[in-house]
Amino acid sequence: MTKFLEIGRGGITIPTGKPAESSRGEPARRFVEIAGWGHYLPLHVLSNQALEKMVDTTDEWILTRSGISERRIAAQEESTSTMAANAGQAALDRAGMDARDLDLIILATATPDHPGLPATAPLVQQALGAGNCAAFDITAACSGFVSALITASQFIISGAYRNILVIGAETLSRVMDWTDRATCVLFGDGAGAVVLRATEREGGLLAFDMGADGRGADHLVIPAGGARMPASHITVEQRLHYLKMNGREVYKFASRILPQSFNRTLDKAGVSPEEVELLIPHQANMRIIDAARPSLRVKKEAVYVNVDRYANTSAASIPVALSEAIDEGRVRHGAIVAMVAFGAGLTWASVLWRWQG
Ligand SMILES: CC(C)(COP(=O)(O)OP(=O)(O)OC[C@H]1O[C@@H](n2cnc3c(N)ncnc32)[C@H](O)[C@@H]1OP(=O)(O)O)[C@@H](O)C(=O)NCCC(=O)NCCS
Repeated sequence: MTKFLEIGRGGITIPTGKPAESSRGEPARRFVEIAGWGHYLPLHVLSNQALEKMVDTTDEWILTRSGISERRIAAQEESTSTMAANAGQAALDRAGMDARDLDLIILATATPDHPGLPATAPLVQQALGAGNCAAFDITAACSGFVSALITASQFIISGAYRNILVIGAETLSRVMDWTDRATCVLFGDGAGAVVLRATEREGGLLAFDMGADGRGADHLVIPAGGARMPASHITVEQRLHYLKMNGREVYKFASRILPQSFNRTLDKAGVSPEEVELLIPHQANMRIIDAARPSLRVKKEAVYVNVDRYANTSAASIPVALSEAIDEGRVRHGAIVAMVAFGAGLTWASVLWRWQG
Protein backbone atom coordinates (compact mmCIF):
# COMPACT_ATOMS: atom_id res chain seq x y z
CA MET A 1 0.00 0.00 0.00
CA THR A 2 1.22 3.51 -0.79
CA LYS A 3 2.53 5.46 2.18
CA PHE A 4 2.24 9.25 2.42
CA LEU A 5 4.45 11.74 4.15
CA GLU A 6 2.17 13.55 6.54
CA ILE A 7 1.76 14.30 10.22
CA GLY A 8 0.76 11.62 12.66
CA ARG A 9 1.42 8.54 10.55
CA GLY A 10 4.08 5.90 10.91
CA GLY A 11 6.36 4.64 8.18
CA ILE A 12 8.32 7.68 7.22
CA THR A 13 9.15 10.06 10.03
CA ILE A 14 8.53 13.77 9.64
CA PRO A 15 9.13 16.18 12.55
CA THR A 16 5.82 17.06 14.14
CA GLY A 17 4.56 20.49 13.23
CA LYS A 18 1.41 22.50 13.80
CA PRO A 19 -1.55 20.62 12.29
CA ALA A 20 -4.21 22.65 10.51
CA GLU A 21 -7.71 22.64 12.01
CA SER A 22 -10.42 20.77 10.11
CA SER A 23 -14.00 22.06 9.93
CA ARG A 24 -14.87 19.56 12.71
CA GLY A 25 -12.21 21.10 14.96
CA GLU A 26 -9.97 18.03 14.70
CA PRO A 27 -6.41 18.36 13.46
CA ALA A 28 -6.58 17.97 9.65
CA ARG A 29 -3.98 15.90 7.83
CA ARG A 30 -1.68 18.23 5.97
CA PHE A 31 -0.18 17.37 2.62
CA VAL A 32 1.87 19.28 0.09
CA GLU A 33 0.75 19.83 -3.51
CA ILE A 34 2.26 21.35 -6.63
CA ALA A 35 -0.18 24.17 -7.30
CA GLY A 36 1.72 25.83 -10.15
CA TRP A 37 4.61 25.21 -12.50
CA GLY A 38 6.54 27.08 -15.17
CA HIS A 39 9.81 27.34 -17.00
CA TYR A 40 11.91 29.84 -18.89
CA LEU A 41 14.45 29.11 -21.59
CA PRO A 42 16.59 31.79 -23.24
CA LEU A 43 15.72 32.45 -26.87
CA HIS A 44 19.18 31.88 -28.32
CA VAL A 45 19.63 28.30 -29.63
CA LEU A 46 23.19 27.03 -29.96
CA SER A 47 23.17 23.99 -32.26
CA ASN A 48 25.83 21.28 -32.56
CA GLN A 49 26.54 22.61 -36.05
CA ALA A 50 27.25 26.06 -34.64
CA LEU A 51 29.54 24.46 -32.00
CA GLU A 52 31.51 22.75 -34.79
CA LYS A 53 32.65 26.26 -35.77
CA MET A 54 33.72 27.12 -32.20
CA VAL A 55 35.65 24.02 -31.02
CA ASP A 56 37.14 20.87 -32.56
CA THR A 57 34.00 18.72 -32.42
CA THR A 58 31.29 17.24 -34.63
CA ASP A 59 27.53 16.97 -34.46
CA GLU A 60 27.95 13.19 -34.75
CA TRP A 61 30.35 13.00 -31.74
CA ILE A 62 28.06 15.06 -29.52
CA LEU A 63 24.91 13.16 -30.56
CA THR A 64 26.36 9.68 -30.10
CA ARG A 65 28.08 10.50 -26.77
CA SER A 66 25.28 12.52 -25.20
CA GLY A 67 22.08 12.60 -27.30
CA ILE A 68 22.27 16.42 -27.32
CA SER A 69 21.36 18.34 -30.52
CA GLU A 70 21.14 21.88 -29.20
CA ARG A 71 21.12 23.99 -26.04
CA ARG A 72 19.93 27.47 -24.99
CA ILE A 73 22.34 30.28 -24.10
CA ALA A 74 21.35 33.27 -21.96
CA ALA A 75 21.52 36.75 -23.50
CA GLN A 76 24.07 39.17 -22.09
CA GLU A 77 21.48 41.03 -20.01
CA GLU A 78 20.10 37.78 -18.55
CA SER A 79 21.38 36.00 -15.47
CA THR A 80 20.29 33.28 -13.06
CA SER A 81 18.04 35.70 -11.10
CA THR A 82 16.25 37.04 -14.19
CA MET A 83 15.57 33.57 -15.60
CA ALA A 84 14.51 32.32 -12.15
CA ALA A 85 12.09 35.22 -11.79
CA ASN A 86 10.57 34.48 -15.22
CA ALA A 87 10.05 30.81 -14.35
CA GLY A 88 8.81 31.73 -10.86
CA GLN A 89 6.25 34.22 -12.23
CA ALA A 90 4.97 31.59 -14.68
CA ALA A 91 4.50 29.13 -11.79
CA LEU A 92 2.71 31.76 -9.66
CA ASP A 93 0.42 32.64 -12.59
CA ARG A 94 -0.44 28.98 -13.06
CA ALA A 95 -1.20 28.65 -9.35
CA GLY A 96 -3.30 31.84 -9.46
CA MET A 97 -1.19 33.12 -6.57
CA ASP A 98 0.15 36.58 -5.80
CA ALA A 99 3.88 36.72 -5.00
CA ARG A 100 2.99 38.55 -1.76
CA ASP A 101 1.32 35.34 -0.52
CA LEU A 102 4.62 33.44 -0.56
CA ASP A 103 6.14 32.43 2.79
CA LEU A 104 9.46 31.31 1.32
CA ILE A 105 11.46 31.21 -1.92
CA ILE A 106 14.11 28.51 -2.29
CA LEU A 107 16.38 28.80 -5.31
CA ALA A 108 18.60 25.89 -6.31
CA THR A 109 21.58 26.96 -8.38
CA ALA A 110 25.27 26.29 -8.94
CA THR A 111 25.62 29.55 -10.89
CA PRO A 112 24.40 32.28 -8.52
CA ASP A 113 24.41 35.91 -9.70
CA HIS A 114 27.16 36.62 -7.14
CA PRO A 115 29.79 34.27 -5.71
CA GLY A 116 28.70 33.53 -2.13
CA LEU A 117 26.72 36.62 -1.20
CA PRO A 118 24.13 37.82 -1.51
CA ALA A 119 22.21 34.66 -2.28
CA THR A 120 20.26 34.87 -5.54
CA ALA A 121 16.83 34.08 -3.99
CA PRO A 122 16.46 37.56 -2.40
CA LEU A 123 17.07 39.09 -5.87
CA VAL A 124 14.26 36.92 -7.21
CA GLN A 125 12.07 37.97 -4.26
CA GLN A 126 12.54 41.61 -5.28
CA ALA A 127 11.95 40.93 -8.98
CA LEU A 128 8.68 39.14 -8.14
CA GLY A 129 7.50 41.72 -5.60
CA ALA A 130 7.23 39.01 -2.94
CA GLY A 131 7.41 41.31 0.08
CA ASN A 132 9.71 40.22 2.89
CA CYS A 133 9.21 36.47 2.68
CA ALA A 134 12.15 34.23 3.57
CA ALA A 135 14.49 33.54 0.65
CA PHE A 136 17.63 31.46 0.39
CA ASP A 137 19.66 29.37 -2.07
CA ILE A 138 20.44 25.68 -1.98
CA THR A 139 23.68 24.52 -3.55
CA ALA A 140 23.67 20.87 -4.50
CA ALA A 141 24.57 21.26 -8.19
CA CYS A 142 22.38 19.10 -10.44
CA SER A 143 20.67 17.60 -7.35
CA GLY A 144 19.73 21.10 -6.19
CA PHE A 145 16.11 21.35 -7.35
CA VAL A 146 15.05 17.97 -5.94
CA SER A 147 16.88 18.74 -2.68
CA ALA A 148 15.02 22.08 -2.54
CA LEU A 149 11.70 20.38 -3.29
CA ILE A 150 12.26 17.94 -0.42
CA THR A 151 13.33 20.78 1.91
CA ALA A 152 10.36 22.97 1.04
CA SER A 153 7.96 20.04 1.49
CA GLN A 154 9.17 19.59 5.07
CA PHE A 155 8.23 23.22 5.90
CA ILE A 156 4.72 22.60 4.56
CA ILE A 157 4.12 19.16 6.04
CA SER A 158 5.34 20.36 9.45
CA GLY A 159 2.83 23.21 9.37
CA ALA A 160 5.47 25.96 9.39
CA TYR A 161 4.61 27.46 5.98
CA ARG A 162 1.72 27.29 3.49
CA ASN A 163 3.07 28.67 0.17
CA ILE A 164 6.60 28.13 -1.13
CA LEU A 165 8.18 28.88 -4.50
CA VAL A 166 10.90 26.37 -5.43
CA ILE A 167 13.10 27.24 -8.41
CA GLY A 168 16.01 25.60 -10.20
CA ALA A 169 17.93 28.05 -12.42
CA GLU A 170 21.34 28.05 -14.07
CA THR A 171 23.49 30.23 -16.32
CA LEU A 172 26.08 27.53 -16.99
CA SER A 173 27.26 29.25 -20.15
CA ARG A 174 29.05 31.73 -17.84
CA VAL A 175 31.18 28.99 -16.23
CA MET A 176 31.92 27.04 -19.40
CA ASP A 177 35.42 27.03 -20.85
CA TRP A 178 34.46 27.61 -24.48
CA THR A 179 37.87 26.25 -25.53
CA ASP A 180 37.29 22.89 -23.74
CA ARG A 181 35.36 20.61 -26.11
CA ALA A 182 34.98 17.92 -23.43
CA THR A 183 32.64 20.10 -21.34
CA CYS A 184 31.24 23.05 -23.33
CA VAL A 185 29.16 20.83 -25.63
CA LEU A 186 27.26 19.25 -22.73
CA PHE A 187 25.63 22.13 -20.82
CA GLY A 188 22.99 24.83 -21.30
CA ASP A 189 21.01 27.60 -19.55
CA GLY A 190 17.43 27.75 -18.26
CA ALA A 191 15.08 27.85 -15.27
CA GLY A 192 12.08 25.90 -13.96
CA ALA A 193 9.85 26.44 -10.93
CA VAL A 194 6.97 25.03 -8.91
CA VAL A 195 4.66 26.59 -6.34
CA LEU A 196 4.12 24.28 -3.37
CA ARG A 197 0.95 24.73 -1.32
CA ALA A 198 -0.37 23.16 1.87
CA THR A 199 -3.48 21.08 1.25
CA GLU A 200 -5.75 18.53 2.88
CA ARG A 201 -5.91 16.62 -0.43
CA GLU A 202 -4.11 13.31 0.01
CA GLY A 203 -0.97 12.83 -2.10
CA GLY A 204 2.10 14.93 -2.81
CA LEU A 205 5.43 13.76 -1.45
CA LEU A 206 5.35 9.99 -0.95
CA ALA A 207 9.04 9.34 -0.24
CA PHE A 208 12.50 10.67 -0.89
CA ASP A 209 16.14 9.64 -0.93
CA MET A 210 19.11 11.99 -0.62
CA GLY A 211 22.82 11.40 -0.26
CA ALA A 212 26.32 12.63 -0.95
CA ASP A 213 29.78 11.16 -1.44
CA GLY A 214 32.37 13.91 -1.02
CA ARG A 215 35.17 11.57 -2.09
CA GLY A 216 34.16 12.46 -5.65
CA ALA A 217 34.19 16.23 -5.06
CA ASP A 218 37.01 16.83 -7.54
CA HIS A 219 35.29 15.01 -10.42
CA LEU A 220 33.04 17.98 -11.21
CA VAL A 221 34.38 21.26 -9.90
CA ILE A 222 34.93 24.98 -10.49
CA PRO A 223 38.38 25.13 -8.86
CA ALA A 224 38.86 28.88 -8.29
CA GLY A 225 36.89 31.87 -7.09
CA GLY A 226 35.96 30.46 -3.66
CA ALA A 227 37.69 30.50 -0.27
CA ARG A 228 39.95 27.59 -1.17
CA MET A 229 41.46 29.29 -4.21
CA PRO A 230 40.53 32.98 -4.31
CA ALA A 231 40.55 34.83 -7.62
CA SER A 232 43.95 36.08 -8.75
CA HIS A 233 45.56 36.84 -12.10
CA ILE A 234 47.10 33.33 -11.95
CA THR A 235 43.71 31.61 -11.53
CA VAL A 236 42.36 33.65 -14.44
CA GLU A 237 45.37 32.85 -16.66
CA GLN A 238 44.98 29.14 -15.84
CA ARG A 239 41.24 29.22 -16.60
CA LEU A 240 40.41 27.85 -13.16
CA HIS A 241 37.11 29.74 -12.89
CA TYR A 242 35.56 27.37 -15.40
CA LEU A 243 33.87 24.03 -14.81
CA LYS A 244 36.26 21.04 -14.94
CA MET A 245 34.98 17.49 -15.26
CA ASN A 246 36.31 13.96 -15.09
CA GLY A 247 33.72 12.68 -17.56
CA ARG A 248 34.46 8.99 -17.15
CA GLU A 249 34.14 9.03 -13.35
CA VAL A 250 30.97 11.12 -13.43
CA TYR A 251 29.48 8.77 -16.01
CA LYS A 252 30.20 5.69 -13.85
CA PHE A 253 28.72 7.36 -10.75
CA ALA A 254 25.63 8.67 -12.54
CA SER A 255 24.66 5.43 -14.27
CA ARG A 256 25.01 3.57 -10.92
CA ILE A 257 23.24 6.07 -8.62
CA LEU A 258 20.25 6.80 -10.90
CA PRO A 259 18.69 3.32 -10.51
CA GLN A 260 19.94 2.89 -6.92
CA SER A 261 18.36 6.08 -5.60
CA PHE A 262 15.15 5.53 -7.60
CA ASN A 263 14.76 1.99 -6.25
CA ARG A 264 15.41 3.11 -2.65
CA THR A 265 12.63 5.71 -3.00
CA LEU A 266 10.24 3.11 -4.41
CA ASP A 267 10.99 0.80 -1.46
CA LYS A 268 10.37 3.56 1.08
CA ALA A 269 6.98 4.35 -0.48
CA GLY A 270 5.96 0.74 -1.06
CA VAL A 271 5.45 1.49 -4.76
CA SER A 272 6.41 -0.81 -7.65
CA PRO A 273 8.22 0.52 -10.76
CA GLU A 274 5.22 -0.35 -12.97
CA GLU A 275 3.08 2.07 -10.95
CA VAL A 276 5.31 5.02 -11.90
CA GLU A 277 3.60 6.84 -14.79
CA LEU A 278 6.30 9.46 -15.29
CA LEU A 279 9.99 9.24 -14.41
CA ILE A 280 12.02 12.41 -14.86
CA PRO A 281 15.72 11.63 -14.57
CA HIS A 282 18.20 14.50 -14.42
CA GLN A 283 18.75 15.42 -18.07
CA ALA A 284 22.54 15.08 -18.15
CA ASN A 285 23.15 12.70 -20.98
CA MET A 286 21.07 10.21 -22.99
CA ARG A 287 23.72 7.52 -22.57
CA ILE A 288 23.41 7.70 -18.77
CA ILE A 289 19.62 7.34 -18.99
CA ASP A 290 19.92 4.44 -21.45
CA ALA A 291 22.54 2.67 -19.31
CA ALA A 292 20.29 2.94 -16.23
CA ARG A 293 17.05 2.02 -18.01
CA PRO A 294 17.06 -1.80 -17.47
CA SER A 295 17.55 -1.37 -13.71
CA LEU A 296 14.77 1.22 -13.49
CA ARG A 297 12.18 -1.37 -14.62
CA VAL A 298 9.63 1.30 -15.59
CA LYS A 299 7.61 1.34 -18.80
CA LYS A 300 9.69 2.74 -21.68
CA GLU A 301 7.22 5.56 -22.34
CA ALA A 302 7.35 6.62 -18.67
CA VAL A 303 10.85 8.08 -18.99
CA TYR A 304 10.82 11.78 -19.89
CA VAL A 305 13.64 13.11 -22.06
CA ASN A 306 14.38 16.63 -23.33
CA VAL A 307 18.18 16.59 -23.05
CA ASP A 308 18.31 16.62 -26.87
CA ARG A 309 16.90 20.19 -26.90
CA TYR A 310 18.38 21.81 -23.80
CA ALA A 311 21.49 19.76 -22.86
CA ASN A 312 22.36 19.57 -19.15
CA THR A 313 20.90 22.60 -17.33
CA SER A 314 21.94 21.27 -13.89
CA ALA A 315 19.44 22.38 -11.20
CA ALA A 316 17.03 23.62 -13.90
CA SER A 317 16.84 20.31 -15.76
CA ILE A 318 14.18 18.53 -13.68
CA PRO A 319 11.80 21.48 -13.12
CA VAL A 320 11.96 22.40 -16.83
CA ALA A 321 11.20 18.79 -17.77
CA LEU A 322 8.40 18.54 -15.19
CA SER A 323 6.83 21.77 -16.41
CA GLU A 324 6.98 20.63 -20.06
CA ALA A 325 5.61 17.18 -19.17
CA ILE A 326 2.60 18.67 -17.34
CA ASP A 327 1.95 21.09 -20.23
CA GLU A 328 2.05 18.11 -22.62
CA GLY A 329 -0.65 16.36 -20.58
CA ARG A 330 1.71 13.63 -19.38
CA VAL A 331 0.60 13.91 -15.71
CA ARG A 332 -2.96 12.86 -14.92
CA HIS A 333 -4.75 13.15 -11.57
CA GLY A 334 -3.50 10.47 -9.16
CA ALA A 335 -0.40 9.64 -11.22
CA ILE A 336 2.83 8.75 -9.45
CA VAL A 337 5.72 10.89 -10.70
CA ALA A 338 9.37 10.16 -9.90
CA MET A 339 12.22 12.67 -10.14
CA VAL A 340 15.81 11.46 -9.78
CA ALA A 341 18.77 13.84 -9.71
CA PHE A 342 22.54 13.37 -9.41
CA GLY A 343 25.55 15.60 -9.83
CA ALA A 344 28.57 17.38 -8.43
CA GLY A 345 29.45 16.78 -4.81
CA LEU A 346 28.93 14.01 -5.63
CA THR A 347 25.25 14.24 -4.64
CA TRP A 348 21.92 12.63 -5.42
CA ALA A 349 18.27 13.26 -4.56
CA SER A 350 15.05 11.48 -5.57
CA VAL A 351 11.36 11.92 -4.88
CA LEU A 352 8.16 10.06 -5.53
CA TRP A 353 5.14 12.33 -5.84
CA ARG A 354 1.43 11.55 -6.19
CA TRP A 355 -0.18 14.19 -8.38
CA GLN A 356 -3.30 15.76 -6.83
CA GLY A 357 -3.98 18.25 -9.66
C1 LIG B 1 31.95 13.27 -21.30
C2 LIG B 1 31.59 11.97 -22.02
C3 LIG B 1 30.44 12.26 -23.00
C4 LIG B 1 32.79 11.49 -22.79
O1 LIG B 1 32.49 10.30 -23.45
P1 LIG B 1 33.56 9.13 -23.51
O2 LIG B 1 33.04 8.09 -24.41
O3 LIG B 1 33.87 8.75 -22.11
O4 LIG B 1 34.76 9.86 -24.21
P2 LIG B 1 36.28 9.81 -23.77
O5 LIG B 1 36.46 10.52 -22.48
O6 LIG B 1 36.71 8.39 -23.87
O7 LIG B 1 36.96 10.64 -24.88
C5 LIG B 1 37.09 10.07 -26.13
C6 LIG B 1 37.81 11.05 -27.04
O8 LIG B 1 36.88 12.05 -27.46
C7 LIG B 1 37.50 13.32 -27.33
N1 LIG B 1 36.52 14.33 -27.13
C8 LIG B 1 36.07 14.87 -25.96
N2 LIG B 1 35.14 15.77 -26.20
C9 LIG B 1 34.95 15.81 -27.53
C10 LIG B 1 34.11 16.54 -28.38
N3 LIG B 1 33.22 17.45 -27.91
N4 LIG B 1 34.18 16.33 -29.71
C11 LIG B 1 35.04 15.45 -30.21
N5 LIG B 1 35.87 14.71 -29.45
C12 LIG B 1 35.82 14.90 -28.12
C13 LIG B 1 38.46 13.17 -26.18
O9 LIG B 1 39.46 14.13 -26.26
C14 LIG B 1 38.98 11.77 -26.40
O10 LIG B 1 39.98 11.85 -27.36
P3 LIG B 1 41.33 10.95 -27.24
O11 LIG B 1 40.85 9.52 -27.20
O12 LIG B 1 42.08 11.32 -28.46
O13 LIG B 1 41.95 11.41 -25.95
C15 LIG B 1 31.17 10.87 -21.01
O14 LIG B 1 32.26 10.51 -20.21
C16 LIG B 1 30.04 11.32 -20.12
O15 LIG B 1 28.90 11.35 -20.53
N6 LIG B 1 30.31 11.64 -18.85
C17 LIG B 1 29.31 12.17 -17.94
C18 LIG B 1 29.16 13.66 -18.18
C19 LIG B 1 27.99 14.25 -17.44
O16 LIG B 1 26.87 13.92 -17.73
N7 LIG B 1 28.25 15.16 -16.51
C20 LIG B 1 27.29 15.84 -15.75
C21 LIG B 1 26.64 14.94 -14.77
S1 LIG B 1 25.62 15.84 -13.69
